[in-house]
Amino acid sequence: KKKAVVFISGGGSNMLSLATAAAEPDFPAEIIAVISDKAEAGGLAKAAALGIRTSTFVRQDFSSKEAHEAAILAELDRLQPDVICLAGYMRMLSAAFIHRHEGKILNIHPSLLPLFPGLHTHQRAIDAGMKIAGCTVHFVTEAMDDGPIIAQAAVPILAGDTPETLASRVLTVEHQIYPLALRLVAEGTVEMKNGCAVSHAPSEATGAL
Ligand code: GAR
Repeated sequence: KKKAVVFISGGGSNMLSLATAAAEPDFPAEIIAVISDKAEAGGLAKAAALGIRTSTFVRQDFSSKEAHEAAILAELDRLQPDVICLAGYMRMLSAAFIHRHEGKILNIHPSLLPLFPGLHTHQRAIDAGMKIAGCTVHFVTEAMDDGPIIAQAAVPILAGDTPETLASRVLTVEHQIYPLALRLVAEGTVEMKNGCAVSHAPSEATGAL
């Protein structure tokens, strides 16, 4: 099985969906550790309850972004993951960090990228009058919420939706596509090559829900 490390900053519901999928015997990856940049992240207790190793690197405990990332990179050197899944990790990784793990870092973003990168995605989708919203799992490159797309899922935007009601509808499908995307990458069906997501699957529709 491939070794995956999940990065979180918050509640960790996506981490939990990955860990739940990975607990199945036929899943091609196992979650070997969870790394948080917030001591109060709710996902830490959820991971610990599953017996997953956790570690926390609070940015304020380090003198610079470089020092913070160096500590995390040292932990990754110990863990030797094949895949790194950013799951609500609300901190930009530096280009140097990303290059160290090029092609191995996945992120989930709660919009149909390339629409609405960055923060407040749900409010912006509602304000734009969009009738559908969704989520995207992509390989991480230097630009924020950019990089080759592995999987997407769409949900309707309903009359009367608030950012909160839309976020919870999107989160439901996040929990479906992140395990799907991790499976595709861990089994080698999808890989990043020359800045593109290349699929080796007989069907090109594997990454859509
Ligand atoms: C998820 O909706 C994820 O897509 C989003 O944060 C939430 C984390 O929830 N990520 C981003 O906005 C990254 N830019 P979780 O902690 O329950 O998985």
